[in-house]
Amino acid sequence: NGEITQFIKQIPSVKDEKRKQMGVLLNDTKKTIEDAIKNQSSIINHQSSVIDSEWFDITLPGLKPPQGHLHLITYAIKEIAAIFEKIGFNRVAYPEVEWDWYAFEGLNMPENHPARDEWETFFIQDLLHPKYGAAVLTPHTSSGQLREMSRLKKPPIRMLNIAKCYRRQIDASHAPMFYQFDGLVIQEDINITHLKGTLDYFVKQYFGPKKESRIRPFHFQFTEPSFEVDVTCIVCGGKGCKICKGGWMELGGAGMVHPIVLKNGGIDPTKYTGFAFGWGVERVLMMKYKID
Ligand code: PHE
Repeated sequence: NGEITQFIKQIPSVKDEKRKQMGVLLNDTKKTIEDAIKNQSSIINHQSSVIDSEWFDITLPGLKPPQGHLHLITYAIKEIAAIFEKIGFNRVAYPEVEWDWYAFEGLNMPENHPARDEWETFFIQDLLHPKYGAAVLTPHTSSGQLREMSRLKKPPIRMLNIAKCYRRQIDASHAPMFYQFDGLVIQEDINITHLKGTLDYFVKQYFGPKKESRIRPFHFQFTEPSFEVDVTCIVCGGKGCKICKGGWMELGGAGMVHPIVLKNGGIDPTKYTGFAFGWGVERVLMMKYKID
């Protein structure tokens, strides 16, 4: 019943030539209006779909960006360094490519000494120092002990050397590159109780207040006496289990610095004494978090 339809109904009553004109006019008008409606609704549809896709609920919690983290070894090194820095140890870094003298000879392990076999060493080809011998990839952080003694020349020395070490060994529990940390304290009247106190302090700080340390007699060429340090088993808490040895887990080596090593470092062994210890970063980290 629209207005256009009313006009169309009137067409038959219009005179001949005008009837044709009227028909054309009405058709054009109808089409113009239809096009205008179509056009308008497509604009409206488009706008509402844009609004749909842009709409968001501002009360929803935001998307959290993915978060990275430091390498676990980096964390462990930071933690170990902080523990020892608190009691006055000074963090140092020494070369990874080291002369034989610092890694062995100066540590009371002369050439061909069987004790060297324990440090399955990588040698650098065709590199020889007239005084310090062959170049090696340092097999332990103890090489830093002689470097620190020669650098400071005079006690007190409280060194913490954390570095990469290299040995020719690969199996389930050994990697050719790993990290160690060596502690060295040299001063007047340093004795085993200072070593034991420091070990206890570290063990409690790093593994927890209920953990204890113990020392067992051992042998190293560069310490006398030498010890192996154990910590209360992380898994059973000391009762004894499949993983530990009677409630204890092995941590690493320690001892009183050998007088020959003090002398090699330029320190008077009749005036000063010292202790040293050296453990694996991966090892203490894996123990702490019970990583198999
Ligand atoms: N350097 C020894 C090792 O790699 C550990 C150690 C350090 C022992 C210091 C005694 C004193 O096994």
